[in-house]
Amino acid sequence: MLAKNVVELCGVYKSIGDHDILHDINLEVREGEFLTLLGPSGCGKTTLLRLISGFEEPSRGSIFIDQKDVRGLPPHHRHVNTVFQSYALFPHMTVFDNIAFGLRCQHVPAAEITSRVNDVLKMVKLEKHALRKPDQLSGGQQQRVAIARAAVNRPRVLLLDEPLSSLDYRLRKTMQIELKQLQRRLGITFVFVTHDQEEALSMSDRVVVMQEGYIEQVGTPRQVYEDPKSLNVATFIGEVNIFAGTVLSLPDNKHLTIDFLDKARPTKSNRSFSIGEQVHVVIRPEDVRVWNQHEVNTNETINMFAGTVDEVIYKGTTVDLIVRLSNHQIIAATEFFDEDDDRLEYKIGEQVWVSWTPGWEVILPHETP
Ligand SMILES: Nc1ncnc2c1ncn2[C@@H]1O[C@H](COP(=O)(O)OP(=O)(O)O)[C@@H](O)[C@H]1O
Ligand SMILES: [Mg+2]
Repeated sequence: MLAKNVVELCGVYKSIGDHDILHDINLEVREGEFLTLLGPSGCGKTTLLRLISGFEEPSRGSIFIDQKDVRGLPPHHRHVNTVFQSYALFPHMTVFDNIAFGLRCQHVPAAEITSRVNDVLKMVKLEKHALRKPDQLSGGQQQRVAIARAAVNRPRVLLLDEPLSSLDYRLRKTMQIELKQLQRRLGITFVFVTHDQEEALSMSDRVVVMQEGYIEQVGTPRQVYEDPKSLNVATFIGEVNIFAGTVLSLPDNKHLTIDFLDKARPTKSNRSFSIGEQVHVVIRPEDVRVWNQHEVNTNETINMFAGTVDEVIYKGTTVDLIVRLSNHQIIAATEFFDEDDDRLEYKIGEQVWVSWTPGWEVILPHETP
């Protein structure tokens, strides 16, 4: 059975003044999932959260929370809580009082407040720090207080607006794992915002890729990475090589031959194309294999591309190569590094061959990049 939708946005548009911020947003947030809005700064992620939380109303379209149209419903009646990047804790209050604050405002009986606050303190593993003030906590602990303060209200959805963006790399990595575990323990639906594609891929059940106020693609991390729907998605999520090509033939509805990089290459796609159509051929650097002259028998190079090494970037676990192909186009390749492998001792200017398994490239309709 399909999980129930906690939030649904149907044909939502948002303009402020004469600025069109969001266009035709259709999105379902499923019960219990970790959903991430991913896109560059200014693409409308915060605005989308503000529409769900009720701090803004859509210019057009409808928003449903638990199947109920929430137009006009103020934020505190929506069962939605937001955790901001700046945590916004009360500095003069203890951890316990910070978390209890909202319940006290709602005049929840004192005994119930104590038990609910203690429960969430346990879940965020801060029961020993209940009497500390925020400045006696680390950044990661403050973040957990901010989440506990929201979770104690038992929201249907927790909205998290770039909560990890201000942390340094190491703490961010730790917090990504913690936050994911915390979400499972709490069993609350998370709508998480980030502009960091690696963060989105590693944490989410589903990712919503946004660009200039539009949703470009919604899918599992694997779907958006391996089967990007557009050049925007492909280039935003990870590194890619993009080449222009033309469809030469269509043996059947899955297979096609593409003319690109001066070769006719067989490939496959589940999209439909027509003969003569201009396309983009997208291949990830980690799918590209580089061969040195000793490894290749010249009568086996029919599916390989000749080139010279332009740049070698050693990265610890990988070696990134920039290869200039014989027609002067550039291709990036990432090879996993193994200390015993002399093969990866590439020299700038060295003649090499480049190849990848036919079918691993993604064929996309032509758009102006
Ligand atoms: N109150 C506002 N008035 C006018 N423009 C706004 C307002 N709030 C946001 N914007 C614009 O809307 C766009 C999206 O903003 P925002 O939702 O904050 O993006 P993100 O969170 O993805 O960085 C930006 O171009 C921003 O300048
Ligand atoms: Mg924002």
